[in-house]
Amino acid sequence: MSNSVNQNIKPIGTRRNKTGNLEISGCDITELAKKYGTPLYVVDEKTLKQIAKEYKNAFSSYKNVKMMYASKALMTGAIAQILHKEGFGFDVVSGGEIYTVHNAKIDLNCATFNGNNKTKDEIEMAINYGIGRISVDNFYELSLLNQILEEKNKKQEVLLRITPGIECHTHEYIQTGQIDSKFGFDLSQIDEAVDLILNKYKNIELKGLHAHIGSQIFETQVYYDEIGILIKELKRINDKYSLNLNEINIGGGLGITYTKEDCPPSVETIAKTIMEAIQENCKKYEIEEPILYIEPGRSIVGTAGVSIYTIGSTKQVPNGRKYIAVDGGMADNPRPIMYEAKYLAEIANNKQGSKREKVTVAGRFCESGDILIKDIELAEPKAGDILCIYNTGAYGYSMASNYNRVLKPAMVLVNNSQSDIIIKRETYEQLVQNDVLR
Ligand code: LLP
Repeated sequence: MSNSVNQNIKPIGTRRNKTGNLEISGCDITELAKKYGTPLYVVDEKTLKQIAKEYKNAFSSYKNVKMMYASKALMTGAIAQILHKEGFGFDVVSGGEIYTVHNAKIDLNCATFNGNNKTKDEIEMAINYGIGRISVDNFYELSLLNQILEEKNKKQEVLLRITPGIECHTHEYIQTGQIDSKFGFDLSQIDEAVDLILNKYKNIELKGLHAHIGSQIFETQVYYDEIGILIKELKRINDKYSLNLNEINIGGGLGITYTKEDCPPSVETIAKTIMEAIQENCKKYEIEEPILYIEPGRSIVGTAGVSIYTIGSTKQVPNGRKYIAVDGGMADNPRPIMYEAKYLAEIANNKQGSKREKVTVAGRFCESGDILIKDIELAEPKAGDILCIYNTGAYGYSMASNYNRVLKPAMVLVNNSQSDIIIKRETYEQLVQNDVLR
């Protein structure tokens, strides 16, 4: 396979086996469905490790790069452990993500705490666990953080999250770097924040700047522009305040290939752009190349993950669409209903000889908008067939809910013909465990 993992639709080692069934890493999808039930999230360990290695190799010539996996894409203890072994730290955005990393016996020193409204409890928790960096988002947080640090008599290294004023061409809801954004300090507010840190908030130690421009990005130019702004600001602040800030965190955002229309650059290409942009801007502004933090999420776990469903009822609208309904939907993958996200899928059991039919894959939730895939050609789908939807590793489980009081699916990790549960299927007892009866 010569493509970068994020340029593929399917996990490495996805093929039809001798029986005509779909398999991933030697695991027959229909067998997985039998053994673990459906809906089921499946994550291919080989694909996950391959993309982690691609990132490592692509940046190997850079003097100091810290790869921080964006936990929000998919966070479980096992995923954290695998990626940590591959050399990744973590971008964490909540007490829950911090606790999951801690629970996986990973030192939080390798993590950055991001977010536009971190609570006092969460900040205290992060500090207690020895978080590596906090990316401070706004003036309120600066003051709150310093107050907490004073109470604890501790110091904390931070980055300032800035809004670089760059619009990338992705869905409006997942753009983040534009000027009118809830995230970060406006460029015109940076000096006031630096002044406060240097003169008032003595327990806060500023190390550099952080930005994130958006998600599911296909253009390299936006990274180029973002880095230009980060380095220009770093130089300006260092000169004005006689500082030696030398860290930039450029966020995540590299896109993946959900359908054939998606053409994201390879990890190697994006890494080249990033390193060239740093080199050129550091030359231009006469500063040393900074320590670089990158925070990929979707491109790390997206392609490695698929969702498996069992097809149930079907409905042919007279002179209209044919709907096939599966046993999951918007609660285990809210991306289609939230962002009109598109996916590819195929029937996993052997359908040789079946003719292809255009159908719409509906979820089982009580909402007309709960459509997982509109108008896709599948091999004569029937009740009992197993459907495999590709590219659901990122922002599927992590955004899952219990809508309609439906249980959250299990997740299995597959590798070398072996499958292991990494998230157990929720039970009805767990569903009601926090209910208080009267
Ligand atoms: N760093 C920061 C500060 C972020 O806000 C994000 C994503 C990332 C890194 C990781 O970005 P990625 O490499 O995954 O694109 N739920 C949406 C995506 C929201 C992304 C939010 N921030 C979706 O399903 O498309």
